[in-house]
Amino acid sequence: MKELIDALNEDLAFEYSAIIQYITYSALIKGINRVELKEFFLNEINDELEHAKYLSDKISALGGTPSVVPKSFKITEDPREMIEELLNAEEKTIERYANHAKLAEKLGHIDIKVQLENIIVDEARHRDELKKILEKLGV
Ligand SMILES: [Fe+2]
Ligand SMILES: [Fe+2]
Repeated sequence: MKELIDALNEDLAFEYSAIIQYITYSALIKGINRVELKEFFLNEINDELEHAKYLSDKISALGGTPSVVPKSFKITEDPREMIEELLNAEEKTIERYANHAKLAEKLGHIDIKVQLENIIVDEARHRDELKKILEKLGV
C-alpha cells in the first residue's frame, strides 16, 4: 500500500506544481500573445485543482498523508519557453499517470486505475493544446 500512496503523493506534488506554474506564467506572460495565453493558462488550473482534490482524498482514504510540498519548475518570462516547459511537464505527467495506473491495477485498486486514466484524458488535452500553441506562437 505504501508504494501506491507514495506514487499518488508524487502525482499530487506535481499537480500543485502545475497549478503554481500556470498561475505564475499567467502573471509573467508579456508580448503580443499575452491576453490569449493568460486566459489559456488560467483555464487549465481548474482541471489540475480537481486532480489535486481527487489525489488528496484518495491518499487519505488509503491511510496516507497528502503531500503539501509542490515540485519545483522553471521560472521564465519567455513565452516560447513557458509553453515548452508546460508541454514537457504535461508529457511527463501523462507518462507518470500511465505507470501509476498500472501499479494501481496490479495492486487491485481498479477505481484508482480508472480515475488515473480519466486524468490522463485531461492531461492529454492540455498537451495537445500546448502543442498547437507552440506551432503557431507569434513570437
Ligand atoms: Fe493534472
Ligand atoms: Fe495538465
